[in-house]
Amino acid sequence: MKIYVTRKIPEAGLALLRPHFDVEVNPEDRPLSRAELLAKIVDADGVLCLLTDRIDAEVFDTATKARGFANYAVGYDNMDVAEATRRKIPLSNTPDVLTTATAEMAWALLFSAARRVVESDAVMRSGEWKGWGPLQFIGQEITGATLGVIGSGRIGKAFALKSAGFGMKVLYTDEYPCAEMEERLGARRVSLNELLEQSDFVSVHVPLMPGTRHLIDEAALGRMKKTAVLVNTSRGPVVDEAALVRALHDGVIAAAGIDVYEAEPKAAEGLAALPNVVMTPHTASATVVSRNGMAVKAANNLIAMLAGRRPPDCLNPEIYL
Ligand code: DGY
Repeated sequence: MKIYVTRKIPEAGLALLRPHFDVEVNPEDRPLSRAELLAKIVDADGVLCLLTDRIDAEVFDTATKARGFANYAVGYDNMDVAEATRRKIPLSNTPDVLTTATAEMAWALLFSAARRVVESDAVMRSGEWKGWGPLQFIGQEITGATLGVIGSGRIGKAFALKSAGFGMKVLYTDEYPCAEMEERLGARRVSLNELLEQSDFVSVHVPLMPGTRHLIDEAALGRMKKTAVLVNTSRGPVVDEAALVRALHDGVIAAAGIDVYEAEPKAAEGLAALPNVVMTPHTASATVVSRNGMAVKAANNLIAMLAGRRPPDCLNPEIYL
């Protein structure tokens, strides 16, 4: 059976697939164009795909032999789950293995934006620093501040729990209460508006769904403190990026740490010119442990799908009922 892998992933995953299947990997280190993707999957029995591949009805119509699609990501807004379910095609994602890496990156962005690390680094590299000064690069203190966590799923919870060492007051918003955050941190579940109004740092950890698109829009940014820092490691469209550019420019909020963008690989016009934003290129899960774990998970999911078994991280388990 033939597996098509839409972009090179860590060997840890490919090594699991090779003994069982004829594995073809996109040799270019870039996303496939739509036409390339469709051409490559025509005769595939299984596809290991990325968040940059749109997996929809056209793909299912083309890959008529495919017995499953394993996403190399925990987020799966690139996949039409309802359509796959209708056709009884299994889909999977890679939860858990990137929780720590993503939570750590949210902290890296929070610290960098709060303490103006990137701006300071640029001044040092430019050779323009004239020596210590009482008013230079003054940022926000983290210890004892109020942390607002939007979404208390796997990553939001891991991010929140890491605040323990900084003695922060933790607010969170979610449909469901998180007993662990409440017991271990004394976290309080509040409305989104209360969280935005009271938090010094706001970090977004919700999946992209119709209800979360532009969850952080101009009005939401307007509710935040002028000294607040926004962090987004979830999905770009959860934040209205044009509104964020205006808010950072006009001093509506103090700073932002952003890993994900509305129209990747581009950032919204004006964002990169702002000194008070720290930007990373959707690399929150980019640690050796996490990316190897994602590769292993995606491979194991695909192996199960092709054997006719329910994959461990199935997104549409109802098709097996
Ligand atoms: C994911 O897995 O959804 C991340 O965005 C990339 O690792």
